[in-house]
Amino acid sequence: MVRHMFSHLLLLWSLIHDLCITGLTYDEPKELSWNNQNLYSVPLDLDASLRRLDLSNNFIRQLHTLALQYLEQLDLSSNQLDFISEGAFKNLARLEELNLSRNALNNNLGSNSKALQSISRLRTLDISMNGLNDDAVERFLRNKPSLDQLKMTGNALTRLSHNLFKESKSLRSITIDDNQISVIEQGTFEPLRQLETLNLARNNLVYICDFKLHQVKYLNLSGNSVEFFVTHEDNLFYSLEILDLSHNKLLYFPIVPKMSQLKYLHLQNNMIGALNSEATMVSEVNALYNEIIKERTVRKNDLHSNWRMMPLIYIDLSYNHFRSFPLETLSLLSSLETLNFSYNCLQNITWHVRNDNRSQYQRQLFFPSLKYLDMQSNGLVYISPLFLKALTKIETLNLQDNSVQPCASMDSLQSSKSTQRMNYNRSCVVFGQLKTLKHLNLQENNIETLYSNAFQNNSLISLNLAKNSYMLMQAGAFEGVQKTLQSLIISELNMTSFDLSLPCMPVLTQLNMSHNHLDVIPSSLICSPLREIDIRNNGFVSLNRSLIISLSVHLDLMYISGNYFNCCDSKWLTTLHELKVKLPDISDAVCFTSDRNIVMTGYLNNTSTNCLFHTKVQEIHFGQMIIIVLFVIVILIVFIILTRKVCCRKSFIV
Ligand SMILES: *[C@@H]1O[C@H](CO)[C@@H](O)[C@H](O)[C@H]1NC(C)=O
Ligand SMILES: *[C@@H]1O[C@H](CO)[C@@H](O)[C@H](O)[C@H]1NC(C)=O
Ligand SMILES: *[C@@H]1O[C@H](CO)[C@@H](O)[C@H](O)[C@H]1NC(C)=O
Ligand SMILES: *[C@@H]1O[C@H](CO)[C@@H](O)[C@H](O)[C@H]1NC(C)=O
Ligand SMILES: *[C@@H]1O[C@H](CO)[C@@H](O)[C@H](O)[C@H]1NC(C)=O
Ligand SMILES: *[C@@H]1O[C@H](CO)[C@@H](O)[C@H](O)[C@H]1NC(C)=O
Ligand SMILES: *[C@@H]1O[C@H](CO)[C@@H](O)[C@H](O)[C@H]1NC(C)=O
Ligand SMILES: *[C@@H]1O[C@H](CO)[C@@H](O)[C@H](O)[C@H]1NC(C)=O
Ligand SMILES: *[C@@H]1O[C@H](CO)[C@@H](O)[C@H](O)[C@H]1NC(C)=O
Ligand SMILES: *[C@@H]1O[C@H](CO)[C@@H](O)[C@H](O)[C@H]1NC(C)=O
Ligand SMILES: *[C@@H]1O[C@H](CO)[C@@H](O)[C@H](O)[C@H]1NC(C)=O
Ligand SMILES: *[C@@H]1O[C@H](CO)[C@@H](O)[C@H](O)[C@H]1NC(C)=O
Repeated sequence: MVRHMFSHLLLLWSLIHDLCITGLTYDEPKELSWNNQNLYSVPLDLDASLRRLDLSNNFIRQLHTLALQYLEQLDLSSNQLDFISEGAFKNLARLEELNLSRNALNNNLGSNSKALQSISRLRTLDISMNGLNDDAVERFLRNKPSLDQLKMTGNALTRLSHNLFKESKSLRSITIDDNQISVIEQGTFEPLRQLETLNLARNNLVYICDFKLHQVKYLNLSGNSVEFFVTHEDNLFYSLEILDLSHNKLLYFPIVPKMSQLKYLHLQNNMIGALNSEATMVSEVNALYNEIIKERTVRKNDLHSNWRMMPLIYIDLSYNHFRSFPLETLSLLSSLETLNFSYNCLQNITWHVRNDNRSQYQRQLFFPSLKYLDMQSNGLVYISPLFLKALTKIETLNLQDNSVQPCASMDSLQSSKSTQRMNYNRSCVVFGQLKTLKHLNLQENNIETLYSNAFQNNSLISLNLAKNSYMLMQAGAFEGVQKTLQSLIISELNMTSFDLSLPCMPVLTQLNMSHNHLDVIPSSLICSPLREIDIRNNGFVSLNRSLIISLSVHLDLMYISGNYFNCCDSKWLTTLHELKVKLPDISDAVCFTSDRNIVMTGYLNNTSTNCLFHTKVQEIHFGQMIIIVLFVIVILIVFIILTRKVCCRKSFIV
């Protein structure tokens, strides 16, 4: 039976083996790489059946006729090529990919462009970094009916004319970043029906006042000087999915196509929001739109009517100039999952929403899909409870580097009414409202007091409280999240072991309590399946060995440097070492004896001697002390005996 199976297996194996071998001999592309070989010319006698030839990173200056009729890919990038003879490519009937980037093709334009015009089957062409101007590029691109991908990064283009691509209409991807383009003529890209990817980053474009590339999916305009972006309203569908307008000079939100696939909108590093209120901005952008399309009769909110239709899931508004939160505009984005609003100047998020009706009450808007909200570095002091209420799906909230004060919980307010009520004031934030919140970053907020139950009703998984140097932490601060918390950062809090009380946290796996003045690991951590703990830069002299042994069941990583460990009380280290806990910074950690310090790695190699030395010193001291004590006692006894005799004699005289 077994033998039977074995012979079957053998047969199968030999079949597979044969298949592989035959597969190899048929399909193996003939290729040759001469990359970085100090070549000054193309090697002679190349195998005529080559399919791929890599001659990149050499010093080749001239290219003459190649006789490689099967060649499909040729890489001549990073050479010093300035002359290609007219007929150089005429035998390369199968050439599909040509990389000529980083050469000097702006010389000898006559023969170089004739050579390039002769290859009509080309699908991929890279002519980046060749110092080429508008005219040269136009000549290079003639007769390219199959061209699919074109890269022209880092040349000297200034103006794209409607003639540029007229003989390369199959282009699907065009990259012309890092040039000096300031003008794009009407009809340059429109006829390219296959165009999906267009990268015009890092040029000199100042405005896009009539975007009409319905076919394009990816448009990168990052790093220009774009002041506004406008799409005229039509009822056509746009394929646009990703639009990058970052690092420009936008003052307003762009007017995007009404019907599109737009999912990712990059607007970071602009000047949006510099105008004071949202209402002002919205009316100005609409006025601008009406002016551009010269249609002064209809007065409607085009910005909002277009934004309402966007299936956006990601928007980056970091590094803009917002001083108020554009509530109405952003709440139109019903699919929005990630909003990056970091590095603006909000200070307060108040609830200024125009009312449709003349109702007394503030209208409640919602951000129904928002999961990630980044508000880092905004100088935030006040966040309206209505804003928090609008975040119905929020999971991650980054409030690092603001001035947000968590409120005391309702319960503790009620229990001690008179004293605590004053703390529940306008400028504190009730995190308990955010029931879906999982990750909260409150690093660097100058938090004064972390009240007990501050996170009541949250089910936080991670919490970062680092760098709140003056924070007073009440005993029950983690009450309510202790059962869910997996990662806790309480570093740089200027805290002593007396200030720190942690509850039993049964799922905590990561704890960072570095940069404090701690000298005891809270024994409540025995509850936690800690995998990583950071106790760097504290005041630890020793660690509780029995606690370490219990923790080591789960412990994988421990950072210990920057403490004042006592070499003679460092058995815990041997224990950690034996239990194979990783100590990445052990070579930076030292321990001290009475007269010197020892690097912990050295200590581990030589535990006994290190401490023997120390205890010997103690023994000597002890011995000396005994001798001294004995000596003193003897002197005393002699003295007493003598004084007695003297006394007796005195009394005798008297
Ligand atoms: C051409 O070669 C350069 C390296 O010299 C490389 O960075 C670039 O991606 C290549 N172009 C294409 C289209 O593969
Ligand atoms: C747009 O181009 C810039 C500059 O080359 C680049 O940093 C950025 O990642 C690109 N954006 C996208 C969305 O790919
Ligand atoms: C938000 O933008 C800042 C700055 O550009 C960046 O550092 C941060 O990673 C971004 N946050 C998210 C969640 O993408
Ligand atoms: C934010 O609110 C505080 C008081 O609540 C006020 O003093 C401050 O001026 C406000 N800041 C802005 C930018 O409105
Ligand atoms: C506006 O008010 C009218 C009556 O006062 C009411 O019928 C209507 O539902 C309200 N509309 C909205 C959007 O609240
Ligand atoms: C409001 O709360 C802040 C921070 O908790 C506190 O410093 C301030 O004294 C409170 N104001 C009043 C009037 O209680
Ligand atoms: C927390 O939830 C309880 C009921 O589950 C509720 O009574 C209490 O008011 C909530 N506290 C906060 C601060 O939302
Ligand atoms: C640490 O706290 C003490 C008072 O408890 C204070 O004097 C000192 O400035 C604080 N240090 C830092 C770095 O905040
Ligand atoms: C712990 O926090 C400190 C300072 O906040 C940081 O430098 C360190 O990298 C953190 N440790 C770990 C393991 O991430
Ligand atoms: C060491 O930790 C254990 C818990 O593992 C605790 O019972 C004991 O009191 C601790 N010893 C000291 C000296 O803190
Ligand atoms: C400790 O011993 C190991 C090998 O046993 C050696 O690689 C390492 O350099 C020694 N470290 C010191 C500080 O002596
Ligand atoms: C061990 O420590 C003693 C005393 O500090 C020292 O003399 C000896 O050279 C050390 N041995 C090794 C192998 O490091």
